[in-house]
Amino acid sequence: MSSSESDLQARLKVEQPHSARIWNYLLGGKDNFASDRAAAEAVLGQMPEIREFAVAGRRLLARAIGFLAGEAGIRQFLDIGTGLPTANNTHELAQRIAPASKIVYVDNDPLVLVHARALLTSHPDGTTSYIDADVRDPEKILHAAADTLDFDQPIAVVMIGILGHIPDDDNPAAIVRTIVDALPSGSYLVINDSITTPVNDSAIETAQSKGANYYLRTVEQITAFFDGLDLVEPGVVSTPQWRPDSADTAEEIAVYCGVARKP
Ligand SMILES: C[S@@+](CC[C@H](N)C(=O)[O-])C[C@H]1O[C@@H](n2cnc3c(N)ncnc32)[C@H](O)[C@@H]1O
Repeated sequence: MSSSESDLQARLKVEQPHSARIWNYLLGGKDNFASDRAAAEAVLGQMPEIREFAVAGRRLLARAIGFLAGEAGIRQFLDIGTGLPTANNTHELAQRIAPASKIVYVDNDPLVLVHARALLTSHPDGTTSYIDADVRDPEKILHAAADTLDFDQPIAVVMIGILGHIPDDDNPAAIVRTIVDALPSGSYLVINDSITTPVNDSAIETAQSKGANYYLRTVEQITAFFDGLDLVEPGVVSTPQWRPDSADTAEEIAVYCGVARKP
């Protein structure tokens, strides 16, 4: 085994559940290990709707990218906390509307890195790239993203299901601020996360006892991440209610999202 292969094996930590792999299991994927399935099943036992939360995030991605690449005319996307490749990844959604779109994916999960090839299947008119980085190092992300994205032109930053992984001690608001400050006027920010409720809180406690980490916030705390930006209609709402299309049930669930424009 080469040293880079053994580094990767060590980073995969198959005995410890990882968010990207738990999410992959909830979405019906095969890229997960026994520890991920055990953590997911423990949460599912208490909160079967977690599967719906994962699907709601993916459906939001499709609607938000549809809005951004369509009505808002955005051609550059920075998707942080990408997850394992699945159907309708950001570049496929954006390039279906605007083939020349440029997409940079960011995740810190080693298995996402292994599968990144599936995210790099850009339309020949556009570009995709992948950065193996932790969101808690936003300067590294911004520096590397500048190889692909033009920071003089609007960029949509997509953070679906990632800020809940960042504890308050790591100051997620400052991370968001650093990223938004680097964007030109006319850029957008998309955030989606589960909120604190008695059911979510106890399910997350179970997940934490299995080694998975997530920090639930209130709707007000999620809304505060958009400070200084102009929320587009309908504001911060339960995710299925953000511009639902005919395939969405639009019922309220304990996952909230918003999309906002930098003035
Ligand atoms: C709940 S999943 C959501 C994946 C995808 N956005 C979706 O909605 O299907 C969260 C993702 O964030 C990534 N992630 C968690 N903490 C991270 C960090 N500190 N830096 C970068 N990525 C992180 C995980 O590896 C995982 O892929």
